[in-house]
Amino acid sequence: MSKRTVLITGCSEGGIGAALAVAFHNAGLKVIATARNINKMTNLAALGIETMVLDVLSEESIQDAASKIKKLDILVNNAGAGYNQTTSDLDIAKAKELYDLNVWSAVRMIQVFLPLLLMSESSPTIVNQTSVLSVVGVPWQTAYGSSKAALASITSGLRYELAPFNINVIELKTALIASKFLEKPGVSESILPEKSIYAPAKSVLNPTLHYADLSSKGADPAQYAKEVVGDVLKKNPPKVIWRGEGATQLWLSTMLPERFINGAISKISHLNEVEKLIKQ
Ligand SMILES: NC(=O)c1ccc[n+]([C@@H]2O[C@H](COP(=O)([O-])OP(=O)(O)OC[C@H]3O[C@@H](n4cnc5c(N)ncnc54)[C@H](OP(=O)(O)O)[C@@H]3O)[C@@H](O)[C@H]2O)c1
Repeated sequence: MSKRTVLITGCSEGGIGAALAVAFHNAGLKVIATARNINKMTNLAALGIETMVLDVLSEESIQDAASKIKKLDILVNNAGAGYNQTTSDLDIAKAKELYDLNVWSAVRMIQVFLPLLLMSESSPTIVNQTSVLSVVGVPWQTAYGSSKAALASITSGLRYELAPFNINVIELKTALIASKFLEKPGVSESILPEKSIYAPAKSVLNPTLHYADLSSKGADPAQYAKEVVGDVLKKNPPKVIWRGEGATQLWLSTMLPERFINGAISKISHLNEVEKLIKQ
């Protein structure tokens, strides 16, 4: 029997996609690791993993990749990014670009690769990478959180739509992982506009927009990926996989009234300090 084949988007070195590629490879699957810059996957190529250029925002790039792939059993939509800003100062053009990446690129990948998944005789599966922020609204991260909530909603509806075709649809509700996420422009270059209503609190907000507190925190991507791959390859995989630092606490909080996590949300967003500076 030929090996199950998995395609993963966003596999740049140091990120979750790369760790998932290694974990699926170690589990004995044929992995097609993709990223928009092939030079960011030399570590994977060195392990014997097939690498391919795929910019999920480019129809041409998606079609080019699809023309080279003849068999697919698991599609992992992992590529994504953040954009932190106070909602009143969001650049709508940037927020729409974020939605193109975090929501619509995943949908387009599913549309294009569905014919191959329909031909799969080995538990065809779609895995969408959302976030724990898809269920918890957090200040200054509303563009990102809402994009992940949109993908979570699409993932739930799609699960019903594809049930008649026996395609599994899995959501990764991922919590904090130590990746390159914080180094990307949408996070590392976020800055409060001078005219913001929050300007009096910029000394607190600017580092918060960069997730300064979270740098050097988060679960090890390799350990996370090993656990996720173990879940996905189960005979009856869970529909929603909660993994990463703090995932269990957040999962529990979804069953409690919102007031139980108000304090934690205020703390990570430095809301009390912001409020004090604004009101002084
Ligand atoms: N880290 C966390 O704590 C965390 C928590 C929950 C969910 N997530 C989600 O997990 C996924 C992976 O993030 P990460 O933490 O591993 O961050 P990362 O290290 O920045 O990885 C993001 C990946 O997405 C790729 N990407 C961005 N735009 C792309 C495009 N147009 N086409 C193809 N690939 C593109 C990046 O490529 P470049 O290297 O070229 O930018 C990179 O390979 C994201 O969807 C993120 O939202 C992360």
